[in-house]
Amino acid sequence: MVLNPRAYLRVYQCMATELIDWDGAYREEGIFVGPPPWNIGEPQPAFMRLINQGRIHGDVLDAGCGHAELSLTLAAKGHIVVGVDLSRAAVDTATATAKSRGIVNATFLCADITSLTGFDGPSQR
Ligand SMILES: C[S@@+](CC[C@H](N)C(=O)[O-])C[C@H]1O[C@@H](n2cnc3c(N)ncnc32)[C@H](O)[C@@H]1O
Repeated sequence: MVLNPRAYLRVYQCMATELIDWDGAYREEGIFVGPPPWNIGEPQPAFMRLINQGRIHGDVLDAGCGHAELSLTLAAKGHIVVGVDLSRAAVDTATATAKSRGIVNATFLCADITSLTGFDGPSQR
């Protein structure tokens, strides 16, 4: 699935002005009707290309992981992954999805990637 250009623009505008209520978007109570448009059920196309080209190596920090299809895809390939997101709703969904898929090498944390306040390392949940 490819994002509608208008949806991309809306996301970009919101990110640029730091006005978006990320948690509200995941709870479907925010600016979008239904799920946020970046939830496409798989990693974003640019990352899929990198994965398919074998260009991702080692442990991964997925900053702003959201529902974490990128983290989960990489973890399923054997990478140790830490996903960080501001949204508690997104982190809870990512954690539940990892559990339902039997993925144990991905950890998800609710934190601000601009400061990582409250982040004491991947052992913290
Ligand atoms: C456009 S979404 C992309 C989500 C995910 N990477 C994906 O491809 O589906 C941007 C994500 O960054 C998160 N985010 C924005 N600012 C953040 C910050 N300062 N610290 C942590 N996460 C942040 C949002 O909550 C949101 O989940």
